[in-house]
Amino acid sequence: MEKIIIAIDGPAGAGKSTIAKKLASLIDYIYIDTGAMYRAITYKALSNNIDIYNDVLMGQLTIESVIEFNSNKVLLDGEDVTRKIRGKRVNQNVSQVSALLSVRKELVHQQRKIGSEKGVVMDGRDIGTVVFPQAELKLFVTASVHERAQRRYEEKIKESATDITLQEIEEELIIRDEKDSSRAISPLKKANDAIILDTTNLTQEESVNIIYNYYLKLVQVKND
Ligand code: DC
Repeated sequence: MEKIIIAIDGPAGAGKSTIAKKLASLIDYIYIDTGAMYRAITYKALSNNIDIYNDVLMGQLTIESVIEFNSNKVLLDGEDVTRKIRGKRVNQNVSQVSALLSVRKELVHQQRKIGSEKGVVMDGRDIGTVVFPQAELKLFVTASVHERAQRRYEEKIKESATDITLQEIEEELIIRDEKDSSRAISPLKKANDAIILDTTNLTQEESVNIIYNYYLKLVQVKND
């Protein structure tokens, strides 16, 4: 069957990554979490005391870094950073790092390389608008701020990470949404041809099913 590119964009905490991961495993596609790539670079810069406002230094750091995805783990220069890139400091600084042209240029280049063979589900903020504007299937996944904060909070409780309150999470999300949507380069924006999926009142299974049905229709038409 002919393979396609599925682009899933949307604000933080809308459920993109869980949905994308499940969909990819269902249709045997590769899943790429591009937010994890921006997070890995942020984590590395913070750990090495690199000025995250310096576009040149940050660009160099990105070019020198090797980010890999290995069975649900994120590896940075060979080190498993899956959990470390979800910490508070990374959350608070990743929007700044992802606003840098040099960092975006290099990561977009790597993302295009990964997706060049198709058969990929990629989630992020600019996949349908910038990375793969030619993607065959584009989704803009969203949910109310309150619902998104609630989901993040429940995840944190499951991980026994009780260093943050529901209100703090909601405030952090609002700030990040604002920064991601208003930045000059590749802001979070729905592609004109993306399908909006509001997951506020949907279970993960329902959301995956909706996208799966779009996928089926599309590949059936392509193979007719
Ligand atoms: O999806 P996430 O919350 O893990 O993403 C972390 C940050 O990375 C988010 O604040 C915006 C940025 N990002 C981006 O600018 N472009 C992408 N394709 C993916 C993420």
